[in-house]
Amino acid sequence: MRAIIAFVSFFIFLNSYAVTQPLDYRVYEGEAKKIVNRMTLEEKVGQMTLPSIDFIYHDGGLKVIRTAHLGGVIAEGNTVPKGGPSLQNWKEWIQEIKRHAEIPLLIGTDAIHGDQHVANSVIFPQNIGLGATHDPALVEKIAAWTAYDIKRSGFNWVFAPTVAAAQDIRWGRTYESFGADSSLVAQFSAAYVHGAQQIENNKIQGVLTSTKHFIGDGNTDFGVDEGNVTVHDQDVFIRTNLPGFLGAFSESTGNVMISYSSINGLPMSLQKEYLTKYLFPYFSGFVVSDYGAIDKSAKKLKKPYNIVLANSVNSGIDMIMITSTYPFFKTINGFQHILLKDVKSGLISKARIDEAVTRILQVKLAMGLMSQKFSTDAKPEGDEYVIALKAAEESLIILKNRDKNNQSTLPVDSDNITNIVMLAPAKVRNGEYAFNDIGLQSGGWRIYWQGLLGNRYTDSKASSILTGIKKVANKNANYYFNPNKLTSLIQRHTLSRKNTIAVVVLAEPPYSEFMGDVGNNNPLYDASKNRAVSESQRKNLIMNFDAETLSRIKVLRENGIHVVTIVLSGRPMQINQGINAPYKLSDCVIAAWLPGTMGGQAIANAMFGLYRFGERSKANTLSFNWPI
Ligand code: GLC
Repeated sequence: MRAIIAFVSFFIFLNSYAVTQPLDYRVYEGEAKKIVNRMTLEEKVGQMTLPSIDFIYHDGGLKVIRTAHLGGVIAEGNTVPKGGPSLQNWKEWIQEIKRHAEIPLLIGTDAIHGDQHVANSVIFPQNIGLGATHDPALVEKIAAWTAYDIKRSGFNWVFAPTVAAAQDIRWGRTYESFGADSSLVAQFSAAYVHGAQQIENNKIQGVLTSTKHFIGDGNTDFGVDEGNVTVHDQDVFIRTNLPGFLGAFSESTGNVMISYSSINGLPMSLQKEYLTKYLFPYFSGFVVSDYGAIDKSAKKLKKPYNIVLANSVNSGIDMIMITSTYPFFKTINGFQHILLKDVKSGLISKARIDEAVTRILQVKLAMGLMSQKFSTDAKPEGDEYVIALKAAEESLIILKNRDKNNQSTLPVDSDNITNIVMLAPAKVRNGEYAFNDIGLQSGGWRIYWQGLLGNRYTDSKASSILTGIKKVANKNANYYFNPNKLTSLIQRHTLSRKNTIAVVVLAEPPYSEFMGDVGNNNPLYDASKNRAVSESQRKNLIMNFDAETLSRIKVLRENGIHVVTIVLSGRPMQINQGINAPYKLSDCVIAAWLPGTMGGQAIANAMFGLYRFGERSKANTLSFNWPI
């Protein structure tokens, strides 16, 4: 009961944010039911089927969209058009896909930090950085631009916002969380849904949001991705994990994605109690399962797939995101055969099928999909690059700015500093040095599921740390990249405290989901897929200088040359462990998170004083504890 009281008071607070009148999707119930009443059972089951585009091709090609009466398709993490991920290729491919549908398709993408499947897109800071801005109004603009970009590509559904209040930074998806504090997450959740859906007159003018993952994805034991939450006190669990959803409900999110994780051993797909108590009383959109989640639940529980499928649908899941990577079915038709059989055998009632399809169609009607009035041209206000730069600047955290004489290192004086030493560990795979790698500073979910190192598919306005510094530093500055003759450069007085600054960039390699879990022995993590990270590094969050960088830093600091360390990471890292700890051996440490394509310029602007930390109150403030 206490949770409900907390919820109601919370809702009142939240609605102070909501500018639009909440949209109850049931206003479209009559129109939706007219369509449902004309549909065959096979067509209804088709609306509930959500394969990836890749699955469709495995299964015989685009004609399956019509023969299987599909309700939607998704671009999964590694989906790339033939000929590459250009905007034109995506537009043409999705146009071709749409032509095969009877009822207009939902077309989903994980644009969690910008239109990341499409080359040259603006990639915004990941949510952990956005949380550090404490600027929901800015995140609303980011959501509006993300909606514009994905619509331009042909998508109409974004699998965002993630509204986990991450409680354990060993979780590989910590960077998808705005912060550990539930009320902060709720504000950003409301802002994101508001900016992306752009509801006016009961219509979604932007794109459909998928608020995820219901519920407790960021609260699992030991931070294990897709793991279990041991809940002793349901009120405490709800107060931690529900507010992010309340924020989204207050802005009428049209879709909720169910989490892979379990509560007390039972997967969320089967948690009818939680959906009934904490979702449906406040949400009138439709519910989608996560990618292959029903298959994973059947495997985890060692129960027949059709039983788990029936129980999941009866718990309230309306649309099933399917993949062919499990043994239960190998074709889309194979999946639909199982679902049809569950209905015909009475495991799922026809009324429940009608309810699920009605919910899906209500949202499609609210999107204007059914009348093809789905607009694709309303450009948001402002300049997308300026907004991305501002978000990256406001996300930076100064962890240290005092040298051994207690003098501040920043801002760097560009008149006197005419030598810039750039240091970074050895390149990883097809990446660049960390000071010149936009893929590295963007993190997971860029072009591919596990991200893409290097600068390929970034546009001319994107900036690495090096290119950002070159734009604001002394025009005649000399640059030294991992130099070997530091001692002689110093002895010849080429480099000195007065005319030189050193910049070291340390980074986590890009990762997504369980591939980013650290120190919790997640059985899903497959080291062979993430060669960049040594097993030792995966056991903990310690980030130290490698021997070569350490030797250079020692020479620099022995001669009074300031060392600025930039940390690119998806979560707080342990940077003060051991003798070669970056925190001790730097005169300045900036946490930059994963700042995206304008991140390099943001870091440079902050270093050289073009951006003043905290110039807007509460900006540049941690939304997670950082253990120093
Ligand atoms: C994933 C993720 C989910 C994502 C979905 C579609 O496994 O858990 O966040 O939206 O699949 O890519």
